[in-house]
Amino acid sequence: MRGAAPYAAEFAFDGMVYAALVFSTIAKGRIVAIDTSAAESAPGFVHVMSHYNAPRMKPMMPWASSEKAAGNDALPIMQDDRIRWNGQPIAVVLAETQEQADYAASLVRATCEAEPATTSFAQAKANGTETAMLGGQPVHIEIGDAEAALATAAVSVDATFHTPYQNHNAIEPHAVTVAWHGDELEVHDASQSVAHNAWSLATMLGIDEHQVHVTSPYVGGAFGGKFMGTHQVLAAAASRLAGRPVRLALSRAGVYRLVGGRALTEQRLAIGAARDGRFVALIHTGTSTHIPGSPHPELAQFVSYSSYATDTLKIDLQWAYLDMVANAAMRAPGEAVGSFALESAVDEVAVALGMDPIELRIRNEPATDPLSGLPFSSRNIVKAWRAGAKRFGWERRNPTPRAVREGDWLIGMGCGAGSHMYAREPGGSARLTLAGDGTVEVAIAAHDAGMGTATVQTQIIAEQLALRPEQIELRLADSALPGLVPGVGSSQTTTAAATTVAAKHEVVAELLKLVRGDSPLAGLTADDVTPRDGGLAKIDDPGRHESYASILTRAGRDELTIDASGGNPTESEQYSMYSYGAMFCEVRVNAITGETRVSRLLGSMDCGRVMNARTAAGQFRGGMIMAMGLALTEETLYDERTARIMNPSLAEYHIPVHADVPKIDVIWTGIPDPHAPLGARGIGELSMNGTAAAIANAIYNATGKRVRQLPITLDKLL
Ligand code: MOS
Repeated sequence: MRGAAPYAAEFAFDGMVYAALVFSTIAKGRIVAIDTSAAESAPGFVHVMSHYNAPRMKPMMPWASSEKAAGNDALPIMQDDRIRWNGQPIAVVLAETQEQADYAASLVRATCEAEPATTSFAQAKANGTETAMLGGQPVHIEIGDAEAALATAAVSVDATFHTPYQNHNAIEPHAVTVAWHGDELEVHDASQSVAHNAWSLATMLGIDEHQVHVTSPYVGGAFGGKFMGTHQVLAAAASRLAGRPVRLALSRAGVYRLVGGRALTEQRLAIGAARDGRFVALIHTGTSTHIPGSPHPELAQFVSYSSYATDTLKIDLQWAYLDMVANAAMRAPGEAVGSFALESAVDEVAVALGMDPIELRIRNEPATDPLSGLPFSSRNIVKAWRAGAKRFGWERRNPTPRAVREGDWLIGMGCGAGSHMYAREPGGSARLTLAGDGTVEVAIAAHDAGMGTATVQTQIIAEQLALRPEQIELRLADSALPGLVPGVGSSQTTTAAATTVAAKHEVVAELLKLVRGDSPLAGLTADDVTPRDGGLAKIDDPGRHESYASILTRAGRDELTIDASGGNPTESEQYSMYSYGAMFCEVRVNAITGETRVSRLLGSMDCGRVMNARTAAGQFRGGMIMAMGLALTEETLYDERTARIMNPSLAEYHIPVHADVPKIDVIWTGIPDPHAPLGARGIGELSMNGTAAAIANAIYNATGKRVRQLPITLDKLL
């Protein structure tokens, strides 16, 4: 540890002050008065901002409401006396040190007038729900009469599943350090969307996009929580007001109050099957909590769009509105909780049929996309199931629940399928500069929040241009760089890879224009040559080679700059594209205490070409560990009278720790997708899906208890 990697809360400016937030303690109402007199006489106090003196700013812009919008809601920030959720920031206190800011903030007294608020799921549902919208379309699909088919099916399962609120808990809490230089704003953020955040800040503050510069070189985990948030806006506004640079680092509790997480869901999952296992009806409906204007539907039902062949299908999502902070995207939004319900129900059908659950899934493999009818670009989930089953020792599983016991420990095995839709961002572009010494700099506003973007993209550039990794300088995560490449939807590798492939073609074309008549490459066209050994060579005659350095130097050029664009992702209009996972779990459940221990986990993935085995395996393991939290421990507890989150800390919100996590095995088919750039589909969110069901199904196999409400805590097993 040298401390050489600057995180957002480690950039320092001369004269910088520290911010602390004051949060509302009611769910809805009006601020009558804020008394800051005690805070103002506290040691080190510098300034306080509230709706009384905050600069006028436009409201937050939610994701997709514009090309670079990246907020979780459409709310104004500190512009009026309204309280919209419990935990809303109502004042920002600035002081010379963080401790002084925290203390002074503790002295701020707000008088608020509470209004009736919707603070429980039951109340929200009773108020009436609305059909969820996605991309301007209602989330409601009916193919055939699924209810009728279910009613007459030989075997049927019709069950309700519940998943709780969950919060983001990246190892690095959200932070931002900002400084104004005249009318220019410098922002050091912990972000997965630097270009979006620069544009968003500029738009909200009423300045030009180019007056805001956001960098985010190192991020301690993002997972969908680190897009545009409230805290960056507050820091920029407070800094302008105080005339001092500001660092605003959210406390762990601050992250819970401001950022939001996974929305609460209630899902009906019904499957009707023929005796031979064929699905005749699939119904996936339900309700999730929401606030108006939020762009994140928590579309649990999405997993049922394309997973299985079925004669009839019914999908519906309702939104129930609560006066709480808007939910954020949280690793595999919708899919993580939806796959828990779907894959648990598939397991229940297998039990009802007396059929192996893997065989049941394979029997319902669709030939083409069940909804769109499009061909799959590449779908090898059956291979993944077979390979995973063999490696996991699935044939040793006793299908009878509660049949395997070691002392007090009941042992069971379960499985679940996961999938994640392929995505590639249309805004992918990069600047590639080939220098006279043959080295290359590639600049792209993509992000590395720990997933290995820097490593994998360096590797891809090296491969495409036949350079050594040390000849490549990759610049990332800076809004001044080209490319609109948010770290979203497991899409960065494909988005950036497409730009690199495009850049390679342009490099070849441009270099061929520069080769001299006496070059070994003279007279060759782009179709004749390929990058080789730090230069270009004739494909079928590698002896005809000239290095990049030589081509440039002899042409009298210091460098060659290429602006490349990856183009529109038309592949996903022509093909149904998903990554797949066959997830396996073994649990040990204590028959006396109900304590569950995951003893083995295996992910058998089919995600196209794996670009880097080490970083990919890390992504898969990370998602499976997060899914262990989803299955067994994570739950945001809130007071149903006040909507106050009661456990905003790692002491009371339990994420898996090392002692909880077994050795996790990951394998993959490695079959390149012929329709994805370089054959690679996304991998980041994939292993979140199917894993919680695999754990729940293993618990059923161990205990005979079917728990349909997450997290599966020990009380539910006694
Ligand atoms: Mo994500 S939940 O698209 O970081």
